[in-house]
Amino acid sequence: MSTKTVKPERVRIFDTTLRDGEQSPGAAMTLEEKIEVAEFLDVMGVDIIEAGFPISSPGDFEAVSEISKRVRNATVCGLARAGFKDVDRAGEAVKAAKKPRIHTFISTSPVHMKHKLQMGPNAVLDAVGASVTRARSLVEDVQWSAEDATRTEHDFLCRCVELAIRSGATTINIPDTVGYATPQEFFELIQMLMNRVPNIDKAVIATHCHNDLGLAVANSLSGVLAGARQIECTINGIGERAGNAALEEIVMAMKVRKDRMPFETGINTTMLSRASKLVSNVTGFPVQYNKAIVGKNAFSHESGIHQDGMLKNVETYEIMRPEEVGVKETSLVLGKLSGRHAFKDKLASLGYALADEAFEDAFKRFKNLADHKKHVFDEDIVALVDDEIVRGHDRISVKDLRVESGTDIAPSADLMLTVKGQDKRTKTSGNGPVDAIFNAIHELYPHTASLQLFQIHAVTEGTDAQATVSVRLEEDGRTVTGKGAHTDTLVAAAHAYVNALNKLLVKRNKQAPETLKVAR
Ligand code: KIV
Ligand code: ZN
Repeated sequence: MSTKTVKPERVRIFDTTLRDGEQSPGAAMTLEEKIEVAEFLDVMGVDIIEAGFPISSPGDFEAVSEISKRVRNATVCGLARAGFKDVDRAGEAVKAAKKPRIHTFISTSPVHMKHKLQMGPNAVLDAVGASVTRARSLVEDVQWSAEDATRTEHDFLCRCVELAIRSGATTINIPDTVGYATPQEFFELIQMLMNRVPNIDKAVIATHCHNDLGLAVANSLSGVLAGARQIECTINGIGERAGNAALEEIVMAMKVRKDRMPFETGINTTMLSRASKLVSNVTGFPVQYNKAIVGKNAFSHESGIHQDGMLKNVETYEIMRPEEVGVKETSLVLGKLSGRHAFKDKLASLGYALADEAFEDAFKRFKNLADHKKHVFDEDIVALVDDEIVRGHDRISVKDLRVESGTDIAPSADLMLTVKGQDKRTKTSGNGPVDAIFNAIHELYPHTASLQLFQIHAVTEGTDAQATVSVRLEEDGRTVTGKGAHTDTLVAAAHAYVNALNKLLVKRNKQAPETLKVAR
């Protein structure tokens, strides 16, 4: 009897953290942060990076163009509605990429066509053909999506998909835009397309599942079992409303359960934990403690019975090793006397390669931290460096802060801000020290944004732990989340508020694109 080893089929990972992920309310990223995330995703082995929606704002256009210039291996993709202006703008933005892709979409469900587009099925079909043909005249690699595909009539969906492929699309994306499908239903939908669309063998089918019912990962994997070979997902599952399928869960599910899902991806899974932290930092969205794969508790064993089992054999309660996703044992790192060399080695082991100036800044902050904090852990270093990355390009920054508060004293804050290169100082009071600081910021940089959330997390245990503070601000319907880390919670609060203001500056220039009227 001969045994034949079948090579697992490759599933492409399409990351849309910078596009659908950035559409999450509150998740704004600066240009530098987007570049940082894109470069990380590229090194981690993502196949396609959806870098933004170029026509939605000059900032998005710039981000897609810059990312196109820098990404080395992955395909860089720009999103476009079905109008020529959108498609041309996306084509312009990705033109410097080694592997450029235009992703054009239009809604195909009755409810979207009637109420959102106010277009009939024939007009939608015309738009599919025209937009894909236009995109294909600009780049070789064109992806077409049927928005709200899971609520689209099957006959109509088949006609649209066939036409998109005939017009030159090489990837057909089937989004569960509203997160309504169930795994069995999604399997059958992909299977139906595989069986009924005559030219389906000329394109790769992709899944793009939203998580409104918590089924995004399950639906995506079902799609792959039915024949899809590209999964669209985001780091930490961020995205519109309840988010998208989480990249780390998709990748690890296929890795750990190869027996049921014999597929492979190009992802270096040991980078997943860092990717999660990076995205959490730049968006200001904390990762839920019990989040699969990357949550703080994903590999902790609290109960005595579990701990006992683990000591006897890790397989009793562990289906994957923490190292596989880049989680390391917490280790005590350097102390006050540690030098540059040791610090650089530590950074490298944590996955950071900082340029000279950034390294010197981080080293200075590490020395300062070691003066204040007895034990400096890996998590402290990560918080410190991420803080540097998050705030490194801010146009408004905290230069000096002194706060007075106590039982018999009116809280006050004496604050100096640098606002677009100019130093400004004021002293204000408030209902508490945090209120006084925020009042001072308001005075030095007047704005109409309102505070929606103020949250403090301790990075490690102990009263000398660093604090990371998240501040969410809202202005004219736009929300952003800023972050700051420091051993002094009040300093961290000031940094976080100012970081959020910087993000508002970015977001102010971004308009929600109007509903499509097919404009050519
Ligand atoms: O959810 C969705 O339908 C989308 C499309 C633009 C692909 O994000
Ligand atoms: Zn989406």
